[in-house]
Amino acid sequence: MRVLVTGTAGFIGFHIARRLLEEGYTVIGLDGITDYYDVSLKRRRHALLHRFENFSSHEFMLEDAQALHDVFARRTPDMVMHLAGQAGVSHSLDAPGTTSIPISSERTRCWRRCVGTRPGIS
Ligand SMILES: NC(=O)c1ccc[n+]([C@@H]2O[C@H](COP(=O)([O-])OP(=O)(O)OC[C@H]3O[C@@H](n4cnc5c(N)ncnc54)[C@H](O)[C@@H]3O)[C@@H](O)[C@H]2O)c1
Repeated sequence: MRVLVTGTAGFIGFHIARRLLEEGYTVIGLDGITDYYDVSLKRRRHALLHRFENFSSHEFMLEDAQALHDVFARRTPDMVMHLAGQAGVSHSLDAPGTTSIPISSERTRCWRRCVGTRPGIS
């Protein structure tokens, strides 16, 4: 089973991806490697995940609807675990525009294509 995990260079996404890999899943990682905190830590996390042969990663922001569409089209994930996002409650007060992403119809369609059509996946 191929699982698309967003935020694989982040704290939660990294640990989820590693656990899935240990259990034999194929993991397609996606992260925009934002500079909210130490970028080298994020790159080290991805380097650790790349030790698993069933891990591959894509580096772009979710706002890039075309890139997202291409990943779905080429990699055809069976499941999505969506952990990419701007963390931090206090940060949302300092920089409110960074904590939400405008929903484009294209991106919504991309998500639905994988998530919305399969029973048991949400
Ligand atoms: N860690 C916690 O205790 C906790 C608790 C409650 C909720 N959350 C939420 O869970 C999510 C993940 O938390 P975390 O602790 O792993 O955060 P994190 O910052 O360590 O990881 C998030 C990852 O998402 C990536 N990212 C952010 N915006 C992106 C975008 N638009 N496109 C592509 N990649 C993007 C970042 O580069 C980062 O690597 C966040 O939404 C956070 O608010 C976390």
